[in-house]
Amino acid sequence: MAKYLVTGVAGFIGRSIAAELLRRGEAVRGIDNFLTGKRENLTGLEAMEFIEGNLADPAVCAAICDGVEIVFHEAALASVPRSVADPVATNLNCVDATLNLLVAARSAGARRVVYAGSSSVYGDSPTLPKREQMLPNPISPYAVAKLAGEQYLRSFSRVYGLETVTLRYFNVFGPFQDPTSQYSGVLAIFCRKMLAGEQPTIYGDGEQTRDFTYIDNVVSANLLAAGAPAGKVAGQAMNVATGSRITLNETFRILCELTGYRGEPVYAPPRNGDIRDSLADIGLAGELLGYKPHVDFREGLRRTVEWYQSCRDGGEKL
Ligand code: UD1
Repeated sequence: MAKYLVTGVAGFIGRSIAAELLRRGEAVRGIDNFLTGKRENLTGLEAMEFIEGNLADPAVCAAICDGVEIVFHEAALASVPRSVADPVATNLNCVDATLNLLVAARSAGARRVVYAGSSSVYGDSPTLPKREQMLPNPISPYAVAKLAGEQYLRSFSRVYGLETVTLRYFNVFGPFQDPTSQYSGVLAIFCRKMLAGEQPTIYGDGEQTRDFTYIDNVVSANLLAAGAPAGKVAGQAMNVATGSRITLNETFRILCELTGYRGEPVYAPPRNGDIRDSLADIGLAGELLGYKPHVDFREGLRRTVEWYQSCRDGGEKL
């Protein structure tokens, strides 16, 4: 019987958490509806029990929670512009899905739910770095949905005693991130395009900043959150990031070095719902989880480019 459940397991964060659990010899169940997840991402996870299904269906949630102790809830429609284009779909796949999962986890007697929160809940307040005690100020429907999920987790912790932990991810990137959608994360898109010799587009002046976080740091935060004492973490939300930021222009220059791309980016108007600057204070996750980012931005980017390059070398169409 699986001890761990990973939702969104065909997405790049979910598959990375599942891979690490399997590497540690744990019994894992995973679910995905392939709305944005990729079947190819399940390669290497054959030891996992996999269920194809939708968390918007309460019966599916009940079935997948049966017997599990810890849930890593990574499933979402993770995109700001996608939520601007279709806020109802984002609400269904982020809010309804999360509530159904929490109800099922509680009924099944699961002990803990660790949730993929988002830095977008901080919105565009000028204060940096972002600290957890700041008042949330979501701008996009995606940010609203992610915050609603977080609030449901807190409520389930307080009202029902389910141990819940929210990890507010800051711009996660790394191997297995889908680079092919218009809604993909910027680093995945840039890696794909620049390796293919195509010109990347920078929305705005490129001076916006992000606290880009390499996937291995996020995986380690999740495992720490699963194991931390309930007295310390239940009902809490904390930033998971590196605690440093970089502009998109500078990122482009580093990617030129790593990919050998010789061209210039094209500049286009800023994206609707975008925020300007993002930087995390990671002190709380350090204090509550013992979290430290082990892979810095440059090394993460180097590994990421290497991975996309190996996909190209292997003949994968990216
Ligand atoms: C936001 C959230 C993040 C969430 C993610 C999901 C914030 C600070 N972060 O990230 O928590 O997990 O959505 O998608 O709100 N860009 C380009 N060219 C491109 C693509 C993007 O210039 O081809 C720009 C965007 O306009 C933006 C930056 O790159 O300024 C980052 O965009 P993206 O990777 O989509 O993530 P965020 O919207 O920052």
